[in-house]
Order: sequence, then structure tokens, then C-alpha cells
Amino acid sequence: MSKVLVLHGPNLNLLGTRQPEIYGRETLEDIDNALREQAARGGWEMLCRQSNHEGELIDAIHAARLDGTTAIIINPAAYTHTSVAILDALNAFDGKVIEVHLSNVHQREAFRHHSYVSLRADGVIAGLGSQGYRLALEAVMAG
Ligand code: DQA
Repeated sequence: MSKVLVLHGPNLNLLGTRQPEIYGRETLEDIDNALREQAARGGWEMLCRQSNHEGELIDAIHAARLDGTTAIIINPAAYTHTSVAILDALNAFDGKVIEVHLSNVHQREAFRHHSYVSLRADGVIAGLGSQGYRLALEAVMAG
């Protein structure tokens, strides 16, 4: 069975109540549940992880190198704009990588316009809210 890892970065555990005018009213659990159903319908196994800690996100990427994970969908949140370490970890992963942002980062502050992760990502989706994760999963499952 093909396997996909969905990784959410810092503060995304607060979705639903965190700046809902920017990030929407769905909780992370709502988003993950919808993704899990979508993956199961396509015959894929899914692991969803959220962490507020850079090293834990890196450890999850390292684990994905060893456990047969075929693709990673990642919203690195603020680490998008700062983390060479997450970029390096993703560069050591051989499968497909899709970067997702709920908000349109290019419409926001200048510091959000640069993404280290985009240097590795096979595809980037921004500004479509939680639909971005579902479209990313569709792309992953399409191969
Ligand atoms: C975000 C955008 C980032 O700039 C921000 O730090 C986040 C969430 C998004 O999903 O729109 O925490 O990745």
C-alpha cells in the first residue's frame, strides 16, 4: 500500500481559532480527517503529524525515508521562511514533496514571500485554504 505523510508545522494546532480571517475556521482535526478519508478512498495509507518543534518535523521526515513513505505533503508554517534544516531533510527524502500554505503567502508580508522548502518541493499550493491539502493529496495519488 502506498503511504503519504502529511506534516504540519508550528501553530497549526491552533487552526480554527487562530486568525480565522486568514486561516479559516476548520480545525486541524477536521482537515486531517477529510484527508484520511480521501486517502483511504484511493487505497493509500496516511500518517498526519503536527509539531511546534523544528527537530521533530525533521525527525518525521527522516522516519519517512525508512518506512516506505512515497510522498510528503508539508505545510512548514513559519519554518517555511527560516529553516535550512527542514530543506536539508527534505533533500534527503527521495519521494514526491508538495508544499501547502492555507493563505496566499505572496499577498502578505515580504518575509513570507521566500520559501526554503520551495527549493525542494515538486509542487506548491498557496491561498486555497484547506482545499490546498486535498488538491495536494489528489496530485500525490495521481502519481
Ligand atoms: C502558513 C503561512 C506562514 O507564513 C505562516 O507562518 C503559517 C501558516 C499558511 O498555511 O498560510 O503559520 O504556512
